[in-house]
Amino acid sequence: MDRKKVSIPDLHNKKREGKKITMLTAYDYPVAKLVDDAGIDMILVGDSLGMVVLGYDSTVPVTMDEMIHHSKAVRRATKYAFLVGDMPFMSFQVSEEEAVRNAGRFLKEAGCDAIKLETAEPRVLKATKAIVEAGIPVLGHLGLTPQSATKLGGLKVQGKDAEAAKKIIDSAVQLEEAGCFAVVLECIPDKLAKLVTEKLTVPTIGIGAGADCDGQVLVINDMIGLFERFLPKFVKQYVKLAPQILTAVKQYKEEVESGKFPAQEHMFGMKAEELKKVEK
Ligand code: KIV
Repeated sequence: MDRKKVSIPDLHNKKREGKKITMLTAYDYPVAKLVDDAGIDMILVGDSLGMVVLGYDSTVPVTMDEMIHHSKAVRRATKYAFLVGDMPFMSFQVSEEEAVRNAGRFLKEAGCDAIKLETAEPRVLKATKAIVEAGIPVLGHLGLTPQSATKLGGLKVQGKDAEAAKKIIDSAVQLEEAGCFAVVLECIPDKLAKLVTEKLTVPTIGIGAGADCDGQVLVINDMIGLFERFLPKFVKQYVKLAPQILTAVKQYKEEVESGKFPAQEHMFGMKAEELKKVEK
């Protein structure tokens, strides 16, 4: 495909021109290559990695080293999409200095274009400003922020009453003022997401936040049916890969056990006279 690499001005132009921004997560080379080839604008190496790939019960245990390892693989496959690395829990809370150092690892070691931080809590806002001042683009994340799921009482819709909605609007403005180039809005009412989208000059990227955001993001393993533990209401499954993989693996087992696989076309030949010398 004849494309140029997506940049922050491209994303901002899309908002201005009313064109939707597309974003998906990816965690490894083969899937990232497909996402990039499909022409998706942004790829997020989300800390959802912990749940959908590494088998943790939440995103909390994910480490910086795990994020860097997977981000490097995604980078190798990503030629056009704008690549964002997700800062895992406790990589940006301890001090501004540590937050900047960890954000820098995503760019220097993994080759990401930007990083993402959850919430606009006072210390996160300070970290956001420090990272932006260090020259690293930051994507904000408000609403349901999975790293704080325990504090929020589970993976629940946020901003449903006026007070909570107002807080999300104020936080979004604070993130824009802190220098975020865009803000993810997760699991909030669509009317609230519309208000935030109209208020900000930078794009909003929705996940479970309705159709009026400037763009949409989904966890790829959810939308291709490769994560079966639960399926959030806001996910549309475009294909169900898990049952197809299960059928293929069962057929392989059966064919190995019955001797049907490997067949002649999967084998390598040898000259008869060479074989004879060995058999002697
Ligand atoms: O970790 C992740 O995949 C995310 C997206 C859901 C936005 O934060």
